[in-house]
Amino acid sequence: MTSATAYAHTNIALIKYWGKADVEQNIPATGSLSLTLDCFGTKTSVTLGDSLTDRLTLNQKAQEGLALDRVSRFLDRVRLLAGSQKRCHVESLNDVPTASGLASSASAFAALALAATKAYGVQLSEKELSLLARYGSGSAARSVFGGFALMHGGQGLSSEECYAKTIASPSHFQVAMVVAQCSNAQKKVSSSEAMLHTAKTSPYYQAWIDTHSQDLTNATHAVSQGDIKLLGQLMEHSTLKMHACMHAARPAINYLNDATLRVMEGVRKLRSQGANCYFTMDAGPHVKVLCPQNEAETIGEELASLSGVIRVDIARPGPGARVMQR
Ligand code: PMV
Repeated sequence: MTSATAYAHTNIALIKYWGKADVEQNIPATGSLSLTLDCFGTKTSVTLGDSLTDRLTLNQKAQEGLALDRVSRFLDRVRLLAGSQKRCHVESLNDVPTASGLASSASAFAALALAATKAYGVQLSEKELSLLARYGSGSAARSVFGGFALMHGGQGLSSEECYAKTIASPSHFQVAMVVAQCSNAQKKVSSSEAMLHTAKTSPYYQAWIDTHSQDLTNATHAVSQGDIKLLGQLMEHSTLKMHACMHAARPAINYLNDATLRVMEGVRKLRSQGANCYFTMDAGPHVKVLCPQNEAETIGEELASLSGVIRVDIARPGPGARVMQR
């Protein structure tokens, strides 16, 4: 096959990864636990050709510079596995709201890993595909899988040990993620840059590393028990710890804005009125709220009414990356 198309959904980390144990191999400094969503994702086609360089088209716009270099370096790994020198054209369409910064690298590199290996004729297991996707973006290793995925990470792990696996299928647990978009702006600092800066300058970074594995163990248990309250509490703790760690870096890194804070307060207020909802934020201002599926609509309406909230979507657990017709 000289052309293949794949689709992958984005995923949201419930227990975050933040920091790299090995920058070259892109090994996360911590493990992580995520939920793959049933909306937002990337469709990517890879077509081998005779040109001398790779080409990248993102949302119908030709890309050059850093974006193309990052994809080309990733494709070099696939070419090495395939024993091929052929360059290709990568065409990617993101159905994440434009410029929202909603974890598009996770779905982008999971879709690229699958489409590129198919186009170059490389047969990989899901575990191997997850290992490969990790080189593009740490969180992409998790988007290979549907439902809840657990990703290994940490100092001393070899590259072959650092992949994600499913721990619960999408239907295991009737949860939803209410996604409140809190800005239209592009983020100024990439997560990779911010992680390195935090590790170098934040006095809380070591505490983050030292306390992380307990959160991961407890959250994995909460998923297996279908305990949304425990999972939600651990999820909030993980995101607040990650952002506190960045806020203590020198100079500080802040991804949150006033709308983010209003949504966080809104979630706390809803909870005090009996709703079962919990927030998490990644390297951006948007807030994702975990709740039971039957409460999602009401919670979504409440959050949409807050000032600064641009848009609200309701996601449910979704499937893993898949090959599709162009
Ligand atoms: O996938 P990366 O390397 O861009 O980093 C993702 C970092 C967070 O989204 C903040 C946390 C996570 O585990 O997804």
